[in-house]
Amino acid sequence: MTEPPPEHAQPHQSAIAGKLIALGLPLVIVVVTVALGVVFSQRDRRHREGRLDGAALYARYCTSCHGPDAQGAGAVASLRPLRLEAEAFKAQVSQGKGAMPGFQGQLFDSDYERLYRYLQALDSPGK
Ligand code: HEC
Repeated sequence: MTEPPPEHAQPHQSAIAGKLIALGLPLVIVVVTVALGVVFSQRDRRHREGRLDGAALYARYCTSCHGPDAQGAGAVASLRPLRLEAEAFKAQVSQGKGAMPGFQGQLFDSDYERLYRYLQALDSPGK
């Protein structure tokens, strides 16, 4: 008679299961919360693609330095009129130059085009 009676096994196993749930559940909640936090904070930093038109992109990312009318101030270049070709514009805005930060992590590829057209339009006849 070395084997324990079967009724001993039952409470022992459920005690272990209870401990695992007690430890595991909070852990799962923490991991899920952190993961959602990361996803949403990135979404916020990197607005949803196509959601912002050129004017909104400019207001959000460029006004602080280049001014609401894009005429710059001090060391900040005026963007009126825009002197860069589309390719050079995208290169400079994504990589940055001098005191201007690069926006690679914040802008989508299609944003450069909208920004470019918005800035060009500021100086086109009839606008
Ligand atoms: C932190 C301030 C700052 C922000 C924000 C900023 N810029 Fe600039 N930008 C500068 C400075 C300073 C220069 C001049 C850089 C140099 O030539 O050394 C510049 C230059 C430029 C030029 C080149 C102009 C020329 O004719 O040489 C373009 C184009 C430009 N910025 C576009 C943008 C756009 C578009 C945004 C928004 C996505 C933006 N910048 C946001 C500071 C800023």
